[in-house]
Amino acid sequence: MTNTRMGLVALAVAGLGWAWLVGAAGSRGQQAAGQGQAGAGAEQEQILTKGKGIFVEKCAKCHNERGDKELSSGKPLSERGLGTDAIAKAVNGRLSKGTEEERRAVTLYIASLMKGGGK
Ligand code: HEC
Repeated sequence: MTNTRMGLVALAVAGLGWAWLVGAAGSRGQQAAGQGQAGAGAEQEQILTKGKGIFVEKCAKCHNERGDKELSSGKPLSERGLGTDAIAKAVNGRLSKGTEEERRAVTLYIASLMKGGGK
């Protein structure tokens, strides 16, 4: 009984995590969709620009602006093929003092740097 319960809770949490991430792009995208394709692109661009600003300020000394700097433990960030959830986890740790919106923006920006996969 308890195990089933835990499973359900875990599922719900995983679902919420996705909603949190997709919510950023999704709801704004839908809003902008009413304004046509250009609107959606501009919204997305704004989030990415914000994420980039934070990344350049706080993360680029170790990762470079494009996440292509070799890391002590191996491949550069942009060659790790990380999914959005893995990125979000790392970003939440690194930017624990930032706002949710900032973390979301940085997560999306890093996702946009990934070579192959992602965007
Ligand atoms: C002092 C240097 C340094 C700074 C500053 C830094 N990182 Fe990193 N980062 C690293 C190193 C080294 C690794 C590789 C660690 C590893 O392989 O576990 C890494 C790995 C990562 C990863 C990949 C984790 C994985 O699962 O492979 C992400 C995502 C990341 N950093 C995001 C950020 C973000 C976002 C910031 C800024 C808020 C940031 N880092 C700032 C050094 C840094």
